[in-house]
Amino acid sequence: MKRIGVLTSGGDAPGMNAALRAVVRTGLSLDMEVYGISHGFEGLLDGEIEKMEWRSVGDILQRGGTILRTARSKRFLEAKWQDHAMNILKAFGIEGLVVIGGNGSYTGGLKLVDRGMTVVGVPGTIDNDLGYTDYTIGFDTAVNTVLTLISNIRDTSTSHERATVIEVMGRHCGDIALHAGLTGGADYILIPEIPVDINKVCMEVLRGKHAGKGHSLIVKAEGVEIPTDELVKTLEEVTGMETRAVVPGYIQRGGSPTERDRMLASLTGSKAVRLLYEDARSSAVGISGSEIIACDLEKALEIKREFNQQIYDLAVLLS
Ligand code: F6P
Repeated sequence: MKRIGVLTSGGDAPGMNAALRAVVRTGLSLDMEVYGISHGFEGLLDGEIEKMEWRSVGDILQRGGTILRTARSKRFLEAKWQDHAMNILKAFGIEGLVVIGGNGSYTGGLKLVDRGMTVVGVPGTIDNDLGYTDYTIGFDTAVNTVLTLISNIRDTSTSHERATVIEVMGRHCGDIALHAGLTGGADYILIPEIPVDINKVCMEVLRGKHAGKGHSLIVKAEGVEIPTDELVKTLEEVTGMETRAVVPGYIQRGGSPTERDRMLASLTGSKAVRLLYEDARSSAVGISGSEIIACDLEKALEIKREFNQQIYDLAVLLS
């Protein structure tokens, strides 16, 4: 394979630039031509494609976001536009495509596989919701962002002897809440994988209050059914504790990637190009333990994220 394309798609994630840098430089080191596609599948449809050189990805390793920009493309959901995208790739002579993104991006990539393109997925999303890989790029940075936030909230929550609900991202996956909650010492972690009993949470907060606990920190994943404002209202009514909500939102999507995300991005980005170079089969790259793995792209989407009951039980025990 001599000419490949690369795009970033879906919600951006810290480390996407590191992955892009690894894709471009590994490809060039193998005497391949690497074409950057801007604005994800939307940009592909508009032919926003440019040849990339070594220096094109200089000084981006440490930067959050994606220099290729990203977008969610409604047009690309339609078969006629998927056909159009394939024609654009053929017109540029692109033989293989690296898609850096989450499950929605992989699904888009499969539409091109159905039309004869070889696609390799690199797991770029803060949600950590791709079951075939232990971690996705951006997850570690997002968790560390939330950790800093929890520490700041703990100070002011204690000063005012308040309860605070911190709603974090993750779409339908509770991993950001679980990892940040456990390592941030949250008192309660609410995640979509475990049914929430609001009365039980209130009772536990009350118990802590009567035991002289100065504050209460509840980390809630956005995928939990109960609306955050309803939870805040109920907590105040039942416990009598002043309760506030913090929703960091897109703060979790930015920032300089951690070493762990930079390493994961570099290893998986480079692996993706080697897969295109060596065996040209559509696949998804990821990490299992300390090993960089590859699995069939379609199968990667079928593997559901296994809920880590052990981490959840430990978080409950230690809180
Ligand atoms: O998929 C990443 C993510 O940040 C989710 O955690 C969040 O629910 C969603 O994107 C927000 O989507 P958008 O950026 O389109 O508002």
